[in-house]
Amino acid sequence: MRRAGRVNAQLMDYLRPHVKAGITTGQIDEMVNQWTRDHGHIPATLGYQNYPKSCCTSVNEVICHGIPDEYVLRDGDIINIDITTIVDGWHGDQSETFLIGEVSEIRRDVTQCAFDCLYLAIEALTPGCQVSKVGETIVPEAHSRGFSVVREYVGHGLGKKFHLDPSIPHFPNRQSRIDRLEPGMCFTVEPMINAGTRYTQSDKEDGWTVRTRDGAASAQFEHSILMTNQGPEILTLTENGPKPGHQF
Ligand code: MF3
Ligand code: CO
Ligand code: CO
Repeated sequence: MRRAGRVNAQLMDYLRPHVKAGITTGQIDEMVNQWTRDHGHIPATLGYQNYPKSCCTSVNEVICHGIPDEYVLRDGDIINIDITTIVDGWHGDQSETFLIGEVSEIRRDVTQCAFDCLYLAIEALTPGCQVSKVGETIVPEAHSRGFSVVREYVGHGLGKKFHLDPSIPHFPNRQSRIDRLEPGMCFTVEPMINAGTRYTQSDKEDGWTVRTRDGAASAQFEHSILMTNQGPEILTLTENGPKPGHQF
C-alpha cells in the first residue's frame, strides 16, 4: 500500500505542471493513462463500473466523478483531479483541486476549506479512534466558514479493492460512531466542500458527473492513509504539492 500510494503521488507530481489554462481535461486523462501504463501499472477507474476514463476531472460546480472530455481549462476555473492507480494489485487513491490562473474569492476560499478540512481530519485521528472523528472535525470547520459538506459521497477503506468497508463519511453518523480506525487499516479521507448548499445532482446523460444542485462551486482533496500504532501515515504525499498550512 505504501508503494501504491507513492506511485500514485508521483503521478500527481508529474501532472501538476501541465494543469494550466489551455489544456483539455481529456488531455490530462491521456497523460494519466500513458504515464500509468508506461510505469507498468493500471488506472483503477478505467472500466470500473463501466466508467470510461483513467481519472476524474471535476470543474467548478462539479463535485466529483467528472468525465474527462474536450473541455478546455480556462483562467478562473478550479479543477479537482482524482487519480487511482493499481500497483501489483494494491490501490493508491488521491485527489487535488487546482486553481487555474486568477480565480474568484469564493472558489479560492472553498478550495482552501477543503484542503484545511482534509489535514485537520487526518491530524485528529489516533489509533483505534472512531471513524466519526473525521466528520466531527470537518463539519464544524466547514460550517464556521459558511460552507457545506457533501453527504452522498464518502471516503472508504482501500486495499486490493478500490472501495472497501468501512465507509468514511465526512459528517458523523450512527455507523461511523461504531466503526474504528485500527492499526493496519488503509482508507481514504476525501472531503467534498460546497460553497452553497450540500445538495447534489447526478447527470442524467452520462450517469457519472455529480454537480452541486445550486450550481455553486465545490472543492475536494483526498489522501490514502494507513493507520499505524503511532497514528495516521499519509501514503499519497507528493513532493511538489501543497503542504499542510499552504495558502491558496
Ligand atoms: N477516485 C474516486 C474515489 O475517490 C472514485 C472514482 S470512481 C469512478 O473514490 F468510477 F468514478 F472513477
Ligand atoms: Co479518489
Ligand atoms: Co477515494
